[in-house]
Amino acid sequence: MCFKKKIKLYFSDSPGALKRRLRSYKQVFVVYDENLAPWLPKLNLEGKRAFSIVATEENKNIKTAYEVCKWLLEQGADRDAVVVAVGGGVTTDIAGFAAGIYKRGIRYANVPTSLVGQVDAGIGGKTGVNVSSFKNMIGLIKQPEFTWICPALLETLPEKDFLSGSAELLKTFILEDRTAYEEAVDLLSASNRKPDAYGKLIEEAARIKARVVGKDEKENGLRRVLNLGHTYGHAIEWYQHVHGEEAPLTHGEAVAVGIIKAAGLSEKRGYAAAGLEAKLRDDFHRCGLPVDCPCPEEALEEAVSKDKKAEGGKINFVFIEKIGKVRIAKL
Ligand SMILES: NC(=O)c1ccc[n+]([C@@H]2O[C@H](COP(=O)([O-])OP(=O)(O)OC[C@H]3O[C@@H](n4cnc5c(N)ncnc54)[C@H](O)[C@@H]3O)[C@@H](O)[C@H]2O)c1
Repeated sequence: MCFKKKIKLYFSDSPGALKRRLRSYKQVFVVYDENLAPWLPKLNLEGKRAFSIVATEENKNIKTAYEVCKWLLEQGADRDAVVVAVGGGVTTDIAGFAAGIYKRGIRYANVPTSLVGQVDAGIGGKTGVNVSSFKNMIGLIKQPEFTWICPALLETLPEKDFLSGSAELLKTFILEDRTAYEEAVDLLSASNRKPDAYGKLIEEAARIKARVVGKDEKENGLRRVLNLGHTYGHAIEWYQHVHGEEAPLTHGEAVAVGIIKAAGLSEKRGYAAAGLEAKLRDDFHRCGLPVDCPCPEEALEEAVSKDKKAEGGKINFVFIEKIGKVRIAKL
């Protein structure tokens, strides 16, 4: 499947099939999340030169990207080399970034292993690292050679990370596919974690993301819709970080609460019919996602108004008109 801007997605049911996809590349260098080590033989990556990283937000920094570059140099990677990233969003962000700066840029491909990775982080070419607690402050937009999506890899994904990804899955469908949204809610609320049950939905969500990015790679307009739920989601994450919350919401969970907030504001502005927020609350709750803000509303509004100031007084906010249709307007 190939979209404008050369966004290539491949879907497979079988981890072993990755070998065929990599056949045409002479120099393959694998950068993988150490938690994914048991998958390497099944992905037929044994025998390839490989570098493991500890995939945490703390390690998602310039030092780790530098370590990857240093290893590539030691291994003699030249400009024909391709870096294959195997892991969740942290790994694909770091590996893609390192590939983007090594020798002024070599090719990379993504093998996302988390739900967030398969429907979001592994697609679209945004790569980067954090600067202290500021997320993704250094980075590049450079499309991978391809993104290879195999839902079978989700079998070992921890529950909380699956839940985080399910919020991004629902978000994507709220943008433009009501039927897929209802299917996803049915599946998630039935607590069916079998990766093969999700194959079709993951494919649909990945295609939506690729289509949006294909039309607006540099986020000058349309790509902003992907930020649905993120304005308040980020504010929640910021608050929990500053207050040293012991069990903070995951990124996806914070986005879920942010989407509920966006639905409420959409109703208040008259962009959405009454009842949207209540429906989303009920759906998300059934899927096991949080729906209530875990911090004081005033603190949240304060964080958002700081963002507003930084953006020159207004924020491009993603409102929901109905499930399957959103609009961007100033907040
Ligand atoms: N580049 C983008 O467009 C984009 C978009 C969204 C998110 N992101 C970034 O992605 C990151 C979040 O992604 P994530 O949720 O995948 O985080 P992650 O990479 O930290 O993965 C979450 C956890 O799941 C583990 N894991 C992943 N796949 C596994 C598997 N198959 N089996 C067992 N364990 C597995 C990881 O080791 C980690 O502990 C953030 O850093 C965020 O900034 C980037």
